[in-house]
Amino acid sequence: MVQIQEATPPDLLLRALSAAARDHGPAAFSSSLSAEDMVITDTILTAGIDIEIFTLDTGRLHAETLEVLGAIRERYGYDVRVYKPQPDAVASYVERHGRDAFYTSGELRHECCRIRKVEPLKRALAGKHAWITGLRQVAGARDRIEPVVFDHEHGLLKFNPLAQWTEAQVWSYLRTHEVPYNRLYDHGYRSIGCAPCTRPSLPGEDVRAGRWWWEQGAAKECGLHLNEQGRLVRATETV
Ligand code: ADX
Ligand code: SF4
Repeated sequence: MVQIQEATPPDLLLRALSAAARDHGPAAFSSSLSAEDMVITDTILTAGIDIEIFTLDTGRLHAETLEVLGAIRERYGYDVRVYKPQPDAVASYVERHGRDAFYTSGELRHECCRIRKVEPLKRALAGKHAWITGLRQVAGARDRIEPVVFDHEHGLLKFNPLAQWTEAQVWSYLRTHEVPYNRLYDHGYRSIGCAPCTRPSLPGEDVRAGRWWWEQGAAKECGLHLNEQGRLVRATETV
């Protein structure tokens, strides 16, 4: 009797990325060099899928995060494209408010993220028809991340192919395929952004508790995935 095997999550990921590139290109993948993003990076580069990989180097990332760029070069012979903030905008923020002013108010935190992440993302996605991210569903504001949405903010299809992956599945993939990852995960970090805005997670905390940990009750978002109304682009614009 012929055995029909169900497609595994990595099979489905490969299919989703291949289809995004084939049917909706030019496609680009935004990598924060996180564990999730290394699963996607490994899939794209191992299968040779036509998707550009870029990262937003905010100028405030940990050295350990930037080391992942070298690990990708060594392992796959691929240079991730690096986008940086506009130097004038950074200089003006630092001069007017101070380099670490994001600790003092929500407004100045969002302004820093806008300059260092949101504006560079717009440049990175210019001319692209598909945007791949490593967003996963997690309890709270990210509980309804869908695999594909139309992103009106950038005018393209946004693919979140890990939407339904668990943290455990991510780590199982990385270990099975011996994929390089950010060393900070070995020191208690579970979600990693800029160095001054990220701390390790404490036992029992949720996965994103270490991000902007001093902000109480606010959505822990930097704006990359928010629409004009400040809401998370997740299921509302499903195609
Ligand atoms: S964030 O909005 O809180 O910073 P998070 O760290 O959960 O986002 O990452 C979710 C996805 O956003 C990543 O998988 C990646 O696609 C994108 N992303 C976040 N930060 C960056 C970055 N610095 N460079 C490129 N992509 C990023
Ligand atoms: Fe600035 Fe922190 Fe946002 Fe990074 S995460 S851009 S340092 S406010």
